[in-house]
Amino acid sequence: MKTVHKISDLQSFISSLKEDGKSIGFVPTMGALHEGHLSLIRQARKHSDVVVCSIFVNPTQFNDAEDFEKYPRNTHQDLKMVEQEGCDLAFVPEVEEMYPEKDERQFSFGNLEKVMEGRFRKGHFNGVAQVVSKLFDMVQPDKAFFGQKDFQQYVIIKDLVKQLSLPIEIVACPIIREDSGLAMSSRNQRLTDEQKAIASEISKTLFWAKDCQSEYLVNDLKEQVVQKIESIEGLQLEYFEIVDDIKLEPVSDWQENTTKVGCLAVFCGKVRLIDNIVFNL
Ligand code: PAJ
Repeated sequence: MKTVHKISDLQSFISSLKEDGKSIGFVPTMGALHEGHLSLIRQARKHSDVVVCSIFVNPTQFNDAEDFEKYPRNTHQDLKMVEQEGCDLAFVPEVEEMYPEKDERQFSFGNLEKVMEGRFRKGHFNGVAQVVSKLFDMVQPDKAFFGQKDFQQYVIIKDLVKQLSLPIEIVACPIIREDSGLAMSSRNQRLTDEQKAIASEISKTLFWAKDCQSEYLVNDLKEQVVQKIESIEGLQLEYFEIVDDIKLEPVSDWQENTTKVGCLAVFCGKVRLIDNIVFNL
C-alpha cells in the first residue's frame, strides 16, 4: 500500500491509474478505524479495481471544539489496518494541506440539513460537504462507499453528487455492530465498560421497535422508543425521528410508500452516539 500526505502525490498516482483504465473505489474516513470502516474497504475492494482510503479528521464539520480535540487519532494503527484489508492507496493530509485558506463555500441541502443531525449540529453537514467535495475532486472515484450508520450523511452525499453533477456512484453499506448490538463508532473508545453496557440498550430499543412495529401507529411507536430510552439511567436522548429515506420528512403512516428509517442521537455521559434502523412496512 502506498501512503501519501500531499495532494500532488495523490493526484499523480490517480492520473496513472486513470491512464491504465482502472476503476477507483473510495472510502473517506476520519480514522480511529474499526470493523465498520473495514467493511467499507471490503465492499470497495469487491466493486473496484483499486481502493483509495482517506484518513483526515476534518475540523470544519465539528461544531464543538472539545469534540474535535478529543476525537481519537491513531494513524499508525489505522494504516496497518487498511493495508491488511487490501487498500491500495491511503491519503493522510494535514489540515493545512486540505485547507490552505478558509473554505467559505456554503452548500444548501434544504430539509435534508435542517432535521435531526442538522438541527443539533449546526454547520456540520456544510463541513462534511466541504471536505467530501474536495476529496471527490482529488480522488475522482468511480464509486464512493458510505456507511448506513451515518444515514443522514449518506443521503446528503447523494444529494451533493447530484447538485455537482459528479459521475460518482454512492454506495451505502450496512451498519456493523458489536456483539452487544452497539453500533461501532470511533467515539465508543471514549466509553467505559459500564457505559458500553448502558449504550447497548440503544440498539436493543431500536430492534424492539422493529419487532413490534406492526402493533403500533407510527407516532405511538415513536413515543414508546422515546420513553424507553429516556427511562435508562446514563442515557440522554437528543432526538428520535422516523423519516423517509429520500426527503427525510417525518412519516405519519406505515402505509406510506417509502422506506422508513428510525434515527436517533443519544448522549451516554459526554459521548454523543447515533444509530438507526430501517423499518419494513
Ligand atoms: P467516519 O466517522 O470516520 O466514518 C467513515 C465512514 O465509515 C462513514 O461512511 C461512516 O458511515 C462509516 N461507518 C462508521 N461506523 C460504521 C459502522 N458501525 N458500520 C458501517 N459503517 C460505518 O463519516 C465520516 O467519518 C466523515 O464525516 C467523512 C465522511 C469522512 C467526512 O469527513
